[in-house]
Formats: sequence, structure tokens, C-alpha cells
Amino acid sequence: MTDDKALSPILITGGGRRLGRHAAESFADSGQSVIITYRTDRPELDSLRAKSIVTLQADFSHQAGILDFIERLKAETSSLRAVIHNASDWLPDHKGVDNADLAEAAAGFQQLFSVHMLAPMLINQACEPLLMAHDGARDIIHLTDAVVRKGSKKHGSYVATKAGLESLTQSFAARFAPDIKVNAIAPALIMFQPDDDAEYREKALKKSALQIEPGAEVITQTICYILDNPYLTGVVLPVEGGRSVV
Ligand SMILES: NC(=O)c1ccc[n+]([C@@H]2O[C@H](COP(=O)([O-])OP(=O)(O)OC[C@H]3O[C@@H](n4cnc5c(N)ncnc54)[C@H](OP(=O)(O)O)[C@@H]3O)[C@@H](O)[C@H]2O)c1
Repeated sequence: MTDDKALSPILITGGGRRLGRHAAESFADSGQSVIITYRTDRPELDSLRAKSIVTLQADFSHQAGILDFIERLKAETSSLRAVIHNASDWLPDHKGVDNADLAEAAAGFQQLFSVHMLAPMLINQACEPLLMAHDGARDIIHLTDAVVRKGSKKHGSYVATKAGLESLTQSFAARFAPDIKVNAIAPALIMFQPDDDAEYREKALKKSALQIEPGAEVITQTICYILDNPYLTGVVLPVEGGRSVV
């Protein structure tokens, strides 16, 4: 393990499960120190702690939760190698036309805005000094979604707030250049949810040219590619199995 890897952690939000967890474990196994955030406490977090991954509870669905997390992060570390904004909420749009429905639709939109845009914006701003304290390459990576280019009948608020996150990628890349690279990864289907049925799975696979469920490793590979590339900032890398050519 090099001192750099041990001294300056990579922060991965929403690292308690699936893609974020895979990246966190992979970095930890390589000797890189890692901090993850989790919203839901689960017994499986213990195996991350056993790998010396620091786990901080955080709820990004409101401003107070974000600011509280930032304070605890600053108490935990004085430098960061990278920040990976992976936390995400796949909340469907609430339909209906009466005021109660509209209030619920508004609450859902505000929740997704807070998780996908406000949290990354405030964390990036707060983490600039921590990243600058790292002696070496410094990165911010936003996990967005390939569906941003198409829209969605059922997840319009999710897509709109992920589009906002893509826009923040370019703004922070300009603002933090040349000291901190800021890029985004826009995945399409990477991993099914356990309750996705066979019909859904077949339909989803046919949307891409390569027609596979690739699994979390392709996202970890893409994160590593960005971290290792000194000439990349302000870009959105699609990892979508050729959806655009079908
Ligand atoms: N998986 C795919 O096929 C796919 C496709 C396109 C884009 N993406 C993007 O890739 C990233 C990772 O995907 P994934 O499937 O691994 O995501 P996921 O299973 O939905 O996990 C997201 C993480 O975000 C955390 N989270 C949700 N709401 C939160 C809140 N209010 N405050 C704090 N944390 C919160 C969850 O925490 P808890 O579990 O602790 O509650 C969870 O660990 C996401 O940004 C997603 O949009 C994934």
C-alpha cells in the first residue's frame, strides 16, 4: 500500500450496496482507503467495516441531512483523493391531478432534486479544500443515467434531476480546473433489481445492442479509467451496451 492511498480516502456515496459497494470493496482490496455513506443500516455493512472501510450514515433527501453529513465527513478526514456521487433514488413519478396528488408529486421531485443535485453540489463545494489537501490527482465523478438522453414516462423526476447532475458536471469541471477533474458516468442497465420479473428482464436486455446484464465491475472499471486518465474533465461517459445504435 502506498502512503497516498492510505492517507487520502475515496468517498463513495450510497456505497452500502450494488454498484457503490462493488467499487468500495474493489478499492479497499487494492489498499486504497475508502469512506462510504449509507442510508439504511444493514448487517452486510459489517463486512465493509471488516475491510477498514469507514461507513458514515447520511440521508441526502433534505438539506439538513446533507449538511450534517458534511460536518461528520470533515471530522473524519482532512483530505480526499476523490468523491464519487453514486447515491440515487429510483422514485417513480406520482400521477394525479388534485392538490393532494400534486403535493405528493412535488415532494417526490424535491426528494430527487435533493439526492441527485443538491447533495452533489454542496458536497463538491465543501470538499474542494479536502481534495486540494491531497498531493496528487484529484477527481469528482457523478453517476448519472443514459436515459437522460431519452426521457421517461414513469420516472420523469428521476431523469430530470440526473440531467441536472450532468449539467453540474460541466460547471464544476470549469470551476475546479485545472486542480480537480470532474466527470460523469451515464450507465444504462448494469444490474437488475432482484424483483425484476422475466418479462421485464427480456424487454430491458433487447434495448441494447450487446444484450447483456454486465454487472457492477464495468462501472468500477470506468471509475478507474477516469481516475487514471490525466486528460479528461467535463465529459459524460456512456456505459450503455450500445443502446444508441439499436
Ligand atoms: N444499476 C443500474 O443498472 C443503473 C443504471 C443506470 C444508472 N445507474 C446509476 O448508478 C448508480 C448506482 O446504481 P445502483 O443500482 O447501485 O443504485 P441503488 O441500488 O439504487 O443504490 C443507491 C444507493 O443510494 C443510497 N440512497 C438512496 N436514497 C438516499 C438518500 N436519500 N440519502 C442517502 N443515500 C441514499 C442507497 O442507500 P441505502 O441502500 O443505504 O438505503 C443506495 O445505497 C446510481 O446513481 C444509479 O442512478 C445504475
